[in-house]
Amino acid sequence: MATKNFFVLFYLISVLPLLSISLEEYEIPPSVLESIPGGDWVLLHSSIGLSAMHMQLLHNDKVVMFDRTDFGPSNLSLPTGRCRFDPNDVALKTDCTAHSLIYDIVSNSFRPLMVQTDTWCSSGSLLPDGTLVQTGGYNDGERVVRTFSPCSDDQCDWTELPEYLSVRRWYSSNQILPDGRVIIVGGRRVFNYEFYPRNSMNESSPANYYMSFLKETRDVYEENNLYPFLHLLPDGNLFIFANTRSILFDYVGNRVLKEFPEIPGSDKRNYPSTGSSVLLPLHLSGKNETQLPEAEVMVCGGAPSGAFHSTDHSIYVGASKTCGRLRVTDPEPKWVIETLPMARVMSDMLLLPTGDVVIISGAANGTAGWENAVNPVLNPVLYLTYEPDPARRLNVLNASPIPRLYHSAAVLIPDGRILVGGSNPHRLYNFKNVLYPTELSLEAFSPPYLAPQYSELRPSIVSVDPVSYRQMFSVTYVLSAYRAEQGISVTLMAPSFSTHSFAMNQRLVVLNVVSLLQLSSFEYQVSMSGPMSPAIAPPGYYMLFVVYAGIPSHGVWVKVE
Ligand SMILES: *[C@@H]1O[C@H](CO)[C@@H](O)[C@H](O)[C@H]1NC(C)=O
Ligand SMILES: *[C@@H]1O[C@H](CO)[C@@H](O)[C@H](O)[C@H]1NC(C)=O
Ligand SMILES: *[C@@H]1O[C@H](CO)[C@@H](O)[C@H](O)[C@H]1NC(C)=O
Ligand SMILES: *[C@@H]1O[C@H](CO)[C@@H](O)[C@H](O)[C@H]1NC(C)=O
Repeated sequence: MATKNFFVLFYLISVLPLLSISLEEYEIPPSVLESIPGGDWVLLHSSIGLSAMHMQLLHNDKVVMFDRTDFGPSNLSLPTGRCRFDPNDVALKTDCTAHSLIYDIVSNSFRPLMVQTDTWCSSGSLLPDGTLVQTGGYNDGERVVRTFSPCSDDQCDWTELPEYLSVRRWYSSNQILPDGRVIIVGGRRVFNYEFYPRNSMNESSPANYYMSFLKETRDVYEENNLYPFLHLLPDGNLFIFANTRSILFDYVGNRVLKEFPEIPGSDKRNYPSTGSSVLLPLHLSGKNETQLPEAEVMVCGGAPSGAFHSTDHSIYVGASKTCGRLRVTDPEPKWVIETLPMARVMSDMLLLPTGDVVIISGAANGTAGWENAVNPVLNPVLYLTYEPDPARRLNVLNASPIPRLYHSAAVLIPDGRILVGGSNPHRLYNFKNVLYPTELSLEAFSPPYLAPQYSELRPSIVSVDPVSYRQMFSVTYVLSAYRAEQGISVTLMAPSFSTHSFAMNQRLVVLNVVSLLQLSSFEYQVSMSGPMSPAIAPPGYYMLFVVYAGIPSHGVWVKVE
């Protein structure tokens, strides 16, 4: 039967070079693969010379990675005999090694970068022009902002803006805003937020804004709410989650608009009980310019209260086994709890171009912090966001051979793979006589959709029109095996700044496809409108994917403006 349909389709294609495909045929969401392969791990480098604690993908297919300057010497030398002289460094005052690098995805090569002040446990965002803005750190770096502008030659490096931040920002979280500014929220023992660029136009506006929620959610040790989870919602307000509580926050008026119910169970979800959180895909299909898409947040993993201090006595409490989903745009949102196949703390959660979520790296016992976790979880879990059957929603994928614990990171790259690096649960680089040595390796994980048996179903993008808010645009792609019932969708993925299991600015927008045209035997043109507003997709670079039958194309960079 299928063969016959195929024959008819090919016949039609050969006689009808311009075939408009009716709306119902592609309104179906990307279909779930019948059986899910386990994905593949590849070791890209046994050593990149430093531990990839922080990672940011740039729109020139390069990834900036850095750890911290006070780990002692890394295994990557600074170029041309350069050294860093730092009287404030607690490990090494003269250091001729690099603590940051830029990795080139296409050539699988990297070069060292020079960072002067300490970037440990910091945060970051991309600006609308693609410049990476990194904020804060530790010691002499705690108030520094550093920028890195992508370049096509190998000349670009960090620029440091000393004393830029109004207060120290160590373990804070960032989010790009609709107006292109970045909000920087919290940090260790810091209960306020501020902006980059700072408000220099108006002398009377404060340098930062107090936020009582951060003070209320800290625990007795004043640290159990670090790297709060921030998500920009379609109405322009922020969802902020710390520990077990979450709020809808108006950062302009500096007020809490709503407090959501606490996530059920006593597990904490933020550093050091490090879980993770994603804003699930925003669907624009069927929405007109005045209707906002629904928004749903998912938080997974973490550790019970007290787990951090139990590690002082070498007791590694079992991590959280639950995920909660909250439709924050519902009038009365309620958490829906699901159980993971295994307990997880310090796992990264990454949105895939298909709208599904990968939960990767981390441990089953303990918490974040020095020597605080055991029992690494080597298997990623694929969470099928749209799978109605709970028994099929969570899928255990193939294991990596390398434990990725505290100070590891992961990012999605345009070819659909996930770069995974880092892990250093020690105060210095430590390669010997420890259970989990410092990891300098870099791996790539290919999710199930990259399995060779799906290559026929993989769209290949030929051209993309410029993408502007509310403007119609088209994408042309090639696909060798089209079947109408499998559905086509077009998604925009924001590249995230990933550290401490939280991918800041991560965002997937599923566009509102309005027509699909067959141009020739294997060539199609899909048309849709750009995102309705910068609150739905803040200005900047995105990876655009065409997804057919659950298989994404290679992502193509577009600048949404
Ligand atoms: C890093 O360098 C140290 C000192 O040279 C060496 O002992 C170690 O094997 C290197 N580790 C890696 C993973 O390259
Ligand atoms: C400057 O900031 C103050 C305090 O936030 C505000 O009341 C005032 O309207 C601002 N002035 C201008 C010109 O934006
Ligand atoms: C958008 O859709 C809503 C709900 O269907 C409707 O009330 C509204 O009039 C529509 N607005 C426009 C501009 O079409
Ligand atoms: C990890 O946690 C589980 C569940 O609490 C517990 O049974 C197990 O003993 C712990 N493992 C270690 C190595 O502490």
